[in-house]
Amino acid sequence: MSHFAHARVDLDAISHNARLLREFAGGTPLMGVVKADGYGHGMLPAARAMIAGGATWLGTAFIDEALELRRAGFTLPVLAWIIPPGEPVAEAVEADVDLGVSDRAVLDTVIFEAARLGRTARVQLKADTGLNRGGVNPADWRNLVEAAARAEDEGHLRVSGVWSHFACADEPGHPSIALQLSRFHEALEIADKAGLDPEVRHIANSAALLTLPEARFDLVRGGIAGYGLCPIPDFEATGLRPAMTLRSRIALTKRVPAGSGVSYGHRYVTDRESTLALVPLGYADGVPRAATNKGPLLLGGRRRVISGTVCMDQFVVDVGDDAVEAGEYAVLFGDPGEHPDTPTAEDWARILDTIPYEIVTRVGVRVPREYVGAPA
Ligand SMILES: Cc1ncc(COP(=O)(O)O)c(C=O)c1O
Repeated sequence: MSHFAHARVDLDAISHNARLLREFAGGTPLMGVVKADGYGHGMLPAARAMIAGGATWLGTAFIDEALELRRAGFTLPVLAWIIPPGEPVAEAVEADVDLGVSDRAVLDTVIFEAARLGRTARVQLKADTGLNRGGVNPADWRNLVEAAARAEDEGHLRVSGVWSHFACADEPGHPSIALQLSRFHEALEIADKAGLDPEVRHIANSAALLTLPEARFDLVRGGIAGYGLCPIPDFEATGLRPAMTLRSRIALTKRVPAGSGVSYGHRYVTDRESTLALVPLGYADGVPRAATNKGPLLLGGRRRVISGTVCMDQFVVDVGDDAVEAGEYAVLFGDPGEHPDTPTAEDWARILDTIPYEIVTRVGVRVPREYVGAPA
């Protein structure tokens, strides 16, 4: 465990963002998406902060994540949506976890377990409206809906939701968006005709809740924007505050002559006598190796770039003749509201040709999360 580096997570920022998302979505109820350890921020603290900001639902990918929320005492509705064979469906039914159902086999398993336990399972039927990932194909939708309606009549389940997910909401105006919305309306109509009366109909993720009022329905699912990061490149989501700051103390500095090759492969060579600063964070901690000679950071009051290869546990920054010393903090990404030269996770994503989700979720287990802003 590195004592030099940590990811500081501002829980007030998450609560603030959740409040803002509700405003952006015109007051529509908010599901705080906390899967993947709260996008790397820590699932339980992130969930508390989302709820403090007004989230009335939580969303996870897997049942185990939802059960962890239940064990921690969260009693609000929780939806888990990836249910491969062998998942603990019975525990989920007992814990009143809403189960996202994407195929008939899962529906049948849920009905079987609910009947065995003598309970009414909460099920949210997911329509594939064009993402071609999870969800039930349009051709199979009517059958699934009718089977769910029969099981509802028999008391084995309650269809608490009907929902879907966009493929290209982060590209406003993409033709698939209107098509998916119209297919979602069709799916809802079929569910309605089968006699289903879901509590919530939902399709919007962060990008859609920021840009598509017509996609709000009864609930919006806010993930990345809750953590203060915008899913749409070059879109001004005014007021979002990045919650995670990844920073590390400098482990050592040294003076080297001009022409010194730096780090593995000597992919960086000093062009003058220079001071090198060593940052004890590497690809094992989530700093992508692709950030070699590219990754930005704030150090000694200004923006700089990683010099040479990112190693497993460390990388180097050429600071020239600046007075940078061991023990000083380097900020890899965080909130520019704290210092205008602070890179954001969005900056890292742009530079590395990825998305900010990947930057924050890959911060490794060796990096302690330090919580500020509210009780964790
Ligand atoms: C089904 C589903 N809904 C909602 C979300 C939240 O998306 P975002 O983080 O873009 O708000 C995700 C995240 O990947 C998801 O998979």
